[in-house]
Amino acid sequence: MTFHIAIFAAAMCVAAAEDVIKLPAPDADSGVTVTQALKARRSQRAFAEAELSQAELSGLLWAANGFNRPDKRTNATGMNKQTIVLYVCMKSGAYRYDAKANALVKVCGDDLRGAVAGHQPFAAKAPVSIVIAADVSDPVYKAPWDTLTHYDAGIVSGNIYLYCAANGLATVCRGSMDRDALKKALRLPDTVRLHLNHPVGRPVAE
Ligand SMILES: Cc1cc2nc3c(=O)[nH]c(=O)nc-3n(C[C@H](O)[C@H](O)[C@H](O)COP(=O)(O)O)c2cc1C
Repeated sequence: MTFHIAIFAAAMCVAAAEDVIKLPAPDADSGVTVTQALKARRSQRAFAEAELSQAELSGLLWAANGFNRPDKRTNATGMNKQTIVLYVCMKSGAYRYDAKANALVKVCGDDLRGAVAGHQPFAAKAPVSIVIAADVSDPVYKAPWDTLTHYDAGIVSGNIYLYCAANGLATVCRGSMDRDALKKALRLPDTVRLHLNHPVGRPVAE
């Protein structure tokens, strides 16, 4: 019986409720000027395996989708819907970024970086892969606004690029990933769209 429960738990990719990583406060003074970051921004596809520090992770996620005002974010969103959700895939598992709590909530104990990489294995080498998702069940996301979260995701992607350029990290925006495998592992409903992803790590020569 215990065996069957263990098998079921593994298949469902469950994580214990206490699996929460509280991140340090983001350092809003790190990096270079915006114009210097714009000058440095580029896509990089080779990553060192070294983990990001929690400070880097915190700054990166805050830049991507964190709160810079009590009720609003670093990223603009159509109709201020703030629908974007980030999933952070690392060796230790997959986490949902809780921007309000500045914490990572484990949603799956498996390493899903391979599923994010899909047919581009270089992406699985990065220590962190951020998946930019949106639940479009809100009735507002009907034509002509059915693509609104696509634009929201693009803005988050731009923020990630700029944070990385400003802080010496490598990244690339990717539209490709194994969406079916990720949605299954993360147990996401059909209403969730996985828009883009960003492997992030320290650069190595390509
Ligand atoms: C929406 C979008 C989707 C992309 N998808 C991929 C991808 O799946 N794989 C990849 O290697 N690069 C992908 N890229 C990165 C582009 O190839 C890259 O931005 C382009 O070659 C320009 O290079 P730069 O970012 O260094 O200016 C994507 C970029 C965007 C904006």
